[in-house]
Amino acid sequence: MIDDKKKIFFGRSKSRALSKSKKFFYENYKKDFLVNFEVIKLIKNKDFVLEIGFGLGENLLFQATTYPKDYFIGVDPFINGVANVVQKAKELKLNNISILDTPVQKVIDNFVDNFFSKVFILFPDPWMKNKQKKRRLLNYLFLEKILKKMKIKSTLIFVTDDKDYFNHVVKEISLLKKKIDTFEYSLNNRHSIVDTKYSNKANKLKKDIYFLNLDKLKNVA
Ligand SMILES: C[S@@+](CC[C@H](N)C(=O)[O-])C[C@H]1O[C@@H](n2cnc3c(N)ncnc32)[C@H](O)[C@@H]1O
Repeated sequence: MIDDKKKIFFGRSKSRALSKSKKFFYENYKKDFLVNFEVIKLIKNKDFVLEIGFGLGENLLFQATTYPKDYFIGVDPFINGVANVVQKAKELKLNNISILDTPVQKVIDNFVDNFFSKVFILFPDPWMKNKQKKRRLLNYLFLEKILKKMKIKSTLIFVTDDKDYFNHVVKEISLLKKKIDTFEYSLNNRHSIVDTKYSNKANKLKKDIYFLNLDKLKNVA
């Protein structure tokens, strides 16, 4: 799926210098939280939940604390966020979180099909300028890919405060539905999600927030 020479991550992998404690946790414990695909294969009877672009990890940590029986995998190359998740997960003694500090496009194929019970994509970078829109993570091909990785009866939850991105995703989903009629989608807020840095920003600016749930009903025949 990935052309190695093609740039796929356009965000910032670091915002500011890590505090002393974050640096300590990042350097000493990140390795303990990296996804080990061999180990994951052996975990039975658990629901796996994916969060793509977890940012500072507010939702990932909230979900892992609230649903200790489920197993959470966060993917984001953002070092400050990774350090935050590692520190908090260690302090809270969470043993149901793993992370991948790379762009999701590079690792999604490492997961078997029909794997995830839920997928969160909260406030992905909207890339508002016309010439940047092709950088957007959610497009026809990525949606088709992620649907394959989702279990039957699983849901992908997409939240954004960018109306143009939202409309773009609805349009891509409608196109995809013409090709594979294996899912339904609804536009409401029916999943508990904690406030994140970017939902707080949107609320502060009194921006509307748009929700989309994509429910997988069956596999492609
Ligand atoms: C606008 S921030 C939103 C962060 C968080 N979800 C929130 O609501 O505060 C987008 C996040 O997506 C991450 N990101 C961007 N491209 C990505 C990719 N290809 N794979 C995984 N994460 C990505 C960025 O590093 C950043 O942390």
